[in-house]
Amino acid sequence: MDVILTGDRPTGRLHLGHYVGSLKRRVEMQNSGKYHNIYVMIADAQALTDNADDINKVRNNISEVALDYMACGLDPKKTTIFIQSQIPELCELSFYYMNLVTVSRLQRNPTVKNEIQLRGFKQSIPVGFFTYPISQASDITAFKANLIPVGEDQLPMIEQAREIVRSFNTLYKKVLVEPTAVLPENSYCSRLPGLDGAAKMSKSLGNCIYLADSANDIKKKVQSMFTDPTHLHVEDPGHIENNPVFTYLDAFCRDEHFQAFLPAYQNLDELKAHYQRGGLGDGTVKKFLNEILQNELKPIRERREELAKDIGEIFAQLKKGSENARKVAAQTLHEVKGAMGIDYFGDSSLL
Ligand code: TRP
Repeated sequence: MDVILTGDRPTGRLHLGHYVGSLKRRVEMQNSGKYHNIYVMIADAQALTDNADDINKVRNNISEVALDYMACGLDPKKTTIFIQSQIPELCELSFYYMNLVTVSRLQRNPTVKNEIQLRGFKQSIPVGFFTYPISQASDITAFKANLIPVGEDQLPMIEQAREIVRSFNTLYKKVLVEPTAVLPENSYCSRLPGLDGAAKMSKSLGNCIYLADSANDIKKKVQSMFTDPTHLHVEDPGHIENNPVFTYLDAFCRDEHFQAFLPAYQNLDELKAHYQRGGLGDGTVKKFLNEILQNELKPIRERREELAKDIGEIFAQLKKGSENARKVAAQTLHEVKGAMGIDYFGDSSLL
């Protein structure tokens, strides 16, 4: 009985990196019918740990992220889509888990370390931010999720959750489930580079293609992509390493795209070989990539536009999802307090 839980911080619209890195996989998992329960959480409380002064950013992106989810095919009838802050039980769990984690253990968390640097917190790290790995363990364990589809950067969070589960189960009683991370299958998808060739597609770097982008925006963005800077003339040999145009092709291109959009080649290996040999211009490769991306994103954009006509309905779905999620979290919290022996009024041994 596999239970899946995953989530995103609502700090912006979702982009192609989210799509290949996790969204696409979630939809496949949902539609496979193989999983007992799937929970997808909009992690607004976690987003606030470094956006306390910008509530509106988080608030306004709740429906944007929900639209992105549903446009990609997440279906509230099959997947419980909910909002983190609406489940107060998660805070309660965190409060107890905090006693199972040391400050030095949090300081060693490589993702937190890296994010502290990126955000330039220096000595002014919000306590909530510093402890978000603990809150993430609550998100996971509240639903007894065993499979957590995430990007590579989240591995330290899953490890932290596993440690908390082991401590809790050893110290009290075995009620929590140890989670396992599920990484994207295709390694090109784990971390899609930015349009500018930067290591990551990220809103703050302004190097993203968003799921909501218009056809024209996508085209312009693909045309402006960084490629091989040594490939000055068409006849020059080109490099495919660290060339994001080819990384995107690795992530998105299938053989049938050649028949449809570039019949002079059979497959990506042939295209790569020609580029490396020389004689293949970046314009041709970008045009091909644009066709592939347009083809992939058009149905998503159209569904998104349709769904966006009724935001009330989106919030109604999120409310229903949150209510359902809350029931599950409350049951786990009940078991947790029982295991710890702090369910005083239901404990006859105290009378
Ligand atoms: N930290 C995750 C991110 O930044 C979001 C998240 C919050 C999450 N809670 C989670 C992911 C629980 C998986 C499981 O993308």
